[in-house]
Amino acid sequence: MAPKEEKRIDADDGKKYTKDQFVEYYGLKQANKRWNSAEAAAPKAKAKVKAKAKATAKVAKAGPFKVCVIGGAGGIGQPLSMFMAMDPNVSEVAICDLSVAAVPPAGVAADLGHLDRKMTAVGHVMEVGKKAIDHFGDAMTGSSLVLIPAGLPRKPGQTRDDLFKINADIAKGLVEACAKFCPDAIVCLIVNPVNSIVPAMAELYKKKGLKSHNIIGVTTLDCVRASKFVGGETGVNPRAVRVPVVGGHAGTTILPLFSQDKHAKKIDAEKIPDLDKRVQDAGTEVVNAKGGKGSATLSMGYAGARFASSILAGLAGRRTVECCYLESDVMEGLPYFTSKVAFGLGGVQKVFPIGDLNEHETKRMEEVKTALKGEIDTGLEYAKVNELA
Ligand code: NAD
Ligand code: LMR
Repeated sequence: MAPKEEKRIDADDGKKYTKDQFVEYYGLKQANKRWNSAEAAAPKAKAKVKAKAKATAKVAKAGPFKVCVIGGAGGIGQPLSMFMAMDPNVSEVAICDLSVAAVPPAGVAADLGHLDRKMTAVGHVMEVGKKAIDHFGDAMTGSSLVLIPAGLPRKPGQTRDDLFKINADIAKGLVEACAKFCPDAIVCLIVNPVNSIVPAMAELYKKKGLKSHNIIGVTTLDCVRASKFVGGETGVNPRAVRVPVVGGHAGTTILPLFSQDKHAKKIDAEKIPDLDKRVQDAGTEVVNAKGGKGSATLSMGYAGARFASSILAGLAGRRTVECCYLESDVMEGLPYFTSKVAFGLGGVQKVFPIGDLNEHETKRMEEVKTALKGEIDTGLEYAKVNELA
């Protein structure tokens, strides 16, 4: 059996973290100091920390949580609902979909309901052409987290941008219902094009007086892919690789920062452009391999669940860090951007700066800026001419 990785208590929140988790949250310099003092002051810190943990326990006790998966009977929705049903922080999974879905949502719920887990699964159905605000109220009420893979996937030859008009209208109907029934929930948009739909929905949320940071674009699959490809290149277990992937979620806007991971930074510089391109084009790789029958579903279910579980762990009082796309001021001129974000009680706690870039990454960042700007503007324009009910 592999030796258990050492964890130390962070006096800030009284929870135990690995050295890598200290580094991810505090950055290398501060993390070393904190890691060393956590060891030296262990017994004293424990007492202090216990008191602090007790103080936060009341807020942290909000879980286990209800999670709503919209598009829950679809390609992503089914595996995602399954992973959510297996998360110990989840008490209920509400599976919402249309009456024309491949499987009735009640069927997905009945199936998941037989897992020997302490949760209930409930299906909610809506006729095509009806409004979510009139039909998903029960599903959304009480939800702490709403995951939205509802929308069309692309076919070979299409870009994510080509999906904007139809998917933005679907997202708007759903976000409108979230604003009414679970305005404090964290709403995670998986539906493409993430680069434009997230700014559109976050701005519509702001118009309603709601928090833009409750609308988040899920880009975890880019990180999962970067880890996998670095694992293939280095022989390191992909689960030990944490390459931040910043920018956005389409083509050149996907920028993996290999220089910021302790394993990836050892890869020969001449191999990096190809590895970078593979992460950028990985979605298209799957779209083409599926030959018109959809895009990534299983890996997205896995990645979406990793992200959702990190948010839930945060809501339950344990600090977590993931990359995601949201309103941000880390990149001048780009009001929406993907970077590392810390989650905790209440959701988004901190949006981290991008950190140091090497020559290749600096050059690529210019491409990111140009492409992402236009895609954000598409979303902002949509929000200007639309309103949530
Ligand atoms: P899918 O067609 O298999 O499933 C979508 C489901 O949404 C269907 O069951 C459909 O009935 C349902 N749906 C549509 N409108 C709805 C509504 N108003 N209310 C409730 N349910 C509704 O598609 P998929 O493969 O699961 O992909 C879904 C979306 O996720 C696509 O837009 C795809 O591009 C995107 N995606 C994003 C990422 C990412 O990294 N963010 C990765 C993969 C796919
Ligand atoms: C992905 O990256 O797999 C998704 O965004 C789906 C797609 O259209 O590529």
